[in-house]
Amino acid sequence: MVKDVHCPLLFVFLVAAVALVTVHGQIQSICTDSRIMHKFVTLDYDWPNDTAKDSSIANEEYIVNNNIISGMKVYDDNVYVTVPRWRRGVPSTLNKVIVRNGESILQPFPSWEVQKIGDCRALQYVQSMEIDPNTGWMWIIDTGRINFFAADGTPTQNLCPAKIIVYDIKNSVELTRYEFPNEVAERETTFLNDIVIQYVNDESRYAYISDALAFRMVVYDRVLNTSHYFSHPASMEPEPGNGNITILGETLPVSAGINGMALSWDMKYVYYGPVSGYSLYRVPTSVASQPGGNFAGSVRKVGNKPSQAAGMAYSKNDFLYFPALGENAIYRWDIKLDMTLQNTDIANVEMKALTRVLQDDQCMVFVDILNFNNDGSLWFSVNKLNKFLLTSMDFTGNSGANVLIWKVPIGDTGYLDRTAAPTEPPVTDDGSNGADITSSPGFIVYSFLTLVLSVFFSRQF
Ligand SMILES: *[C@@H]1O[C@H](CO)[C@@H](O)[C@H](O)[C@H]1NC(C)=O
Ligand SMILES: *[C@@H]1O[C@H](CO)[C@@H](O)[C@H](O)[C@H]1NC(C)=O
Ligand SMILES: *[C@@H]1O[C@H](CO)[C@@H](O)[C@H](O)[C@H]1NC(C)=O
Repeated sequence: MVKDVHCPLLFVFLVAAVALVTVHGQIQSICTDSRIMHKFVTLDYDWPNDTAKDSSIANEEYIVNNNIISGMKVYDDNVYVTVPRWRRGVPSTLNKVIVRNGESILQPFPSWEVQKIGDCRALQYVQSMEIDPNTGWMWIIDTGRINFFAADGTPTQNLCPAKIIVYDIKNSVELTRYEFPNEVAERETTFLNDIVIQYVNDESRYAYISDALAFRMVVYDRVLNTSHYFSHPASMEPEPGNGNITILGETLPVSAGINGMALSWDMKYVYYGPVSGYSLYRVPTSVASQPGGNFAGSVRKVGNKPSQAAGMAYSKNDFLYFPALGENAIYRWDIKLDMTLQNTDIANVEMKALTRVLQDDQCMVFVDILNFNNDGSLWFSVNKLNKFLLTSMDFTGNSGANVLIWKVPIGDTGYLDRTAAPTEPPVTDDGSNGADITSSPGFIVYSFLTLVLSVFFSRQF
């Protein structure tokens, strides 16, 4: 029932039918879509040997049910994922997915040594990273703190200053690292959440990073090796009363601010919004890249998302993709279409032409992070994070996989693809581009109807 947006009512009946079947049937047979590349019920690692695994379980360095994938980036068809150290017992925070004996497991990246808790040269807590497809450089953000969403009363440990590391994947070598001063990323509050990279004169230069607990946009200048930040409560704090994320009848109250980040292909605008809220904002990079700029006077709200969302991804052809958590769906904003329909330019365009491109109540519960590979696919991680945070996650396998990595051919690449100027949008007249992703102006009406219906039905639970 993925992307069945043409017929919302049929979709609802299908969901009901599937739900009935799965009461008696083999539940693990759900999520068999061939576009799902990896599935995990629990996370296991590429241990040096069984003894190392057993002793890590015995001394609680590895508490299986505290491990969940959140961040995800793809390079050269390798999938890199983060396991946030929200809770105790996460042996490795940055990893590459490998398949062994038919099972997807995590191989610490770049090594086990780099995952050591308490060693400030090593990685403490990585939520996200960005990979530059042109160079193979991975930009890794490390919050430096652990256990800050512990569910068992474990105190937060503010172990190390936050830092950013640029790591060359192709040559397996660290290129640079920078420790954020306390004024920029406060050691007791920071949560470096998402990162986008800006090119200037054909080289990667600025990193824009969301700090979801200090409510800041942190900026790192790789060329000058300096950093600064902006605080703008109106756009970076949680929206009052809008932090209840209701998914299939279960509500997760979230009180976090600026979260998902995206950068336009022309490198002119940073898009962001709070996870506890609906608003989408943007600020020109000409302002945000420089310390002391008039940030407040340059921010513009471009519109409201249909539901709350964490990640975002901007494509080379000016589509902005983001999840709608309450709908188990992914939408995209067709920016060029809106410029045409509103007869306006990029400076003034508002977010209206929204299309729900993918939806699945079983296999897209909490779409977390989206990104493009240069092969024209949209990749995204799904992690039932609502259930993980509410401690209602089923780790037995009886409810199917908890983490899924999807790869959906979409005929577009990401904002960092510098290989050639964008072409016309790859979508054909019949609204299909071969990926069963739907797009046409009439569809906006449809999306709106779908939204109304889904709001209506979500109230019935
Ligand atoms: C297992 O791996 C650990 C960590 O690399 C190592 O110290 C230990 O000697 C290994 N044990 C065996 C039995 O190979
Ligand atoms: C960048 O600044 C950091 C301070 O955090 C310093 O340790 C590092 O050596 C600097 N890198 C370069 C290339 O100057
Ligand atoms: C959740 O909803 C309640 C009732 O409307 C509201 O008081 C509360 O602020 C909301 N929580 C969040 C995190 O937004």
